[in-house]
Amino acid sequence: MPDSKLPGSSPHGGSPAAPGAGGVPREEVFLRACRGESVPYTPLWIMRQAGRYLPEYRALKDQYDFLTLCKTPELATEVTLQPIRKLGVDAAILFSDILVPLEPMGVGLRFDPGPILSHGIDNEAAIDALLPVDVEESCGFVMDAIRLLRKELAGVAPLIGFAGGPFTLAAYLVDGPKKPAKGGGFDAVVRMAFQRPDLLERLMSHLTTVTADYLSAQIRAGAQAVQIFESWGGILGPREFSRFALPFVQEVIRRLPKDRGPVIYFVLNGGHLLNLLDDSGADVIGIDWRTPLDEARRRLGNRLALQGNLDPRALYAPPERLRQHVDDILQRATGGHVFNLGHGILPDTPVESAQALVEFVHTLSRTGIEER
Ligand code: CP3
Repeated sequence: MPDSKLPGSSPHGGSPAAPGAGGVPREEVFLRACRGESVPYTPLWIMRQAGRYLPEYRALKDQYDFLTLCKTPELATEVTLQPIRKLGVDAAILFSDILVPLEPMGVGLRFDPGPILSHGIDNEAAIDALLPVDVEESCGFVMDAIRLLRKELAGVAPLIGFAGGPFTLAAYLVDGPKKPAKGGGFDAVVRMAFQRPDLLERLMSHLTTVTADYLSAQIRAGAQAVQIFESWGGILGPREFSRFALPFVQEVIRRLPKDRGPVIYFVLNGGHLLNLLDDSGADVIGIDWRTPLDEARRRLGNRLALQGNLDPRALYAPPERLRQHVDDILQRATGGHVFNLGHGILPDTPVESAQALVEFVHTLSRTGIEER
């Protein structure tokens, strides 16, 4: 099903990397930026780059439900490739969802359009009833999609795998089918942290094992980088984050294969936690739009690369103002930098704005080092 005609014609030009030529192969630009190495231009990808703002995604969603797209390797591959063709971003991210590994733990899952879980894991019996997960067996469709994608993407763009951070998965599990409270959200997991820290740690240990196995399997299947989405980490204060989120992410990263590519750790709403993230074990820290990159750099230190951090709503601005917002972020970025939005692209974003973003990032950040 995947259309193998990927752009040899992205905005920054050139056909897929030809070995032997000088400069940085196109496929390497993102990986080099993650490692803080010099690059011909700032690479970018967009969180939720495969999704509802693309008409070709909506067309597939008319035919298949979301989990069917995730679980059918040919369809997941097709959706993953759509933004590569349409936008010319510098990395592909596997099309799936952070909650996919919950089902094999014994938790029913459906999407409408947000996730709805069959039951909450909010007591000792429910935590003890969670099943161990053989990720190769129960999430084999993910590894199959990764293997297919690596063939399609060879010489074009690297592939990012991903998982939810263990604390973020816990936030969904403890909350269960309940809708998050208005304005707050995921109160139940924070309550458990204070009332029954022993229980939350038991749940976190289980999620740490599953997440480490899941990301390791993705890396073995061919994911060249992985991102850990800690979408709910920001609801914790520094003290609780240091106890209930960070040690488990560190353990996940420690357990990954030695020959892994870069690990990106993205804590949404995590400005107040940045001074804790230098030793998360990740190579790149994702920054949302609430913290300017120069300030993030001061709080985090100089060692790691940064990813971010355009406000997704900036894509509603007319092109000239969008260009200024992009320029401002590029000016503030020092050290390794991967451009991204500060959170996922919104469903009603005009596709032309996303295309303009790619063009602006590439042209405004050119360093004069040649890619090939
Ligand atoms: O980035 C990508 O393009 C890869 C695909 C991807 C999806 N979800 C597809 C998706 C990724 C990386 C995710 C991660 C994810 N899923 C996160 C972390 C990032 C974040 O947004 O904070 C979270 C919290 C989830 C859980 C989830 N899945 C929610 C809250 C929702 C509904 C609301 C929403 O934002 O769309 C989903 C559904 C979902 N996941 C959709 C897509 C394309 C929409 C499904 C549809 O088309 O109806």
